[in-house]
Amino acid sequence: MASVLVAGGTRGLGRELAQFYAGQGRDVVITGRDAAAAAACAAEIGGSTRGIGLDLAEPESIAERLADVGDVEFLVLAAIERDTNTVKDYDIAAAMRLVTLKIVGYTEVIHALLPRMGEGSAVLIYGGLARDRPYPGSTTVTTVNGAVTGLVRTLVIELAPRRVNALHPAIVGDSPQWRDMPAERFEALVARTPTGRLVTMEQVVDASRFLLENEAINGINLPVDGGWLCT
Ligand SMILES: NC(=O)c1ccc[n+]([C@@H]2O[C@H](COP(=O)([O-])OP(=O)(O)OC[C@H]3O[C@@H](n4cnc5c(N)ncnc54)[C@H](OP(=O)(O)O)[C@@H]3O)[C@@H](O)[C@H]2O)c1
Repeated sequence: MASVLVAGGTRGLGRELAQFYAGQGRDVVITGRDAAAAAACAAEIGGSTRGIGLDLAEPESIAERLADVGDVEFLVLAAIERDTNTVKDYDIAAAMRLVTLKIVGYTEVIHALLPRMGEGSAVLIYGGLARDRPYPGSTTVTTVNGAVTGLVRTLVIELAPRRVNALHPAIVGDSPQWRDMPAERFEALVARTPTGRLVTMEQVVDASRFLLENEAINGINLPVDGGWLCT
């Protein structure tokens, strides 16, 4: 069976999804920036998982790094290098890395793997709620998450009949990025949610599976936010 490839599968939400599919007995490929670290992470995940090192912010090198990957059924693009950036104190280098990674790097991964993706395959791109709810310093993050929406629209047409969807999580409370935040910050965030709780990694995995596996779902940008956008 063709594999599940998770770009940005060495940590956080991508790793959680890779772990799920490995547990289902699927062949899984994860990527991170460092080949040895990605291989070590693949060994921890177990099953039939392998790790590849590639830098999405250096798109020219991506095709070569993916050259020996076989057929791919589910392609998940989850990597991020967080960039806290405002227009007032604009850091061009940090902005360039994130914009390149998310927009050109993600697209180049698809381009490189496309000949190995059959008609029933599906792509899932991770954006985030910063698309609609900016916060101080989110200028580049908000911009690239908005671009994810545009990317989905054009890829649905270009990659047809393959399916393409995106998922836009709110703050995932038990993800490595957030789980060690100070208790008062956590409580303040929870107080802003209609449900009285933050989204979990398990819920993001469940939503990811829906977008990847349900063959009727195509061209969707799905907020996974517990209703945060209604507030
Ligand atoms: N966590 C949340 O609450 C949350 C909320 C909203 C949206 N999201 C979105 O969900 C996705 C996953 O977030 P996360 O919090 O799970 O991320 P994370 O824990 O920070 O993990 C980031 C992943 O991206 C990889 N990566 C970073 N820079 C890379 C580069 N230049 N080239 C290739 N790979 C690179 C990392 O691999 P190495 O470190 O091994 O290189 C790692 O696997 C992101 O797109 C993020 O915007 C997350």
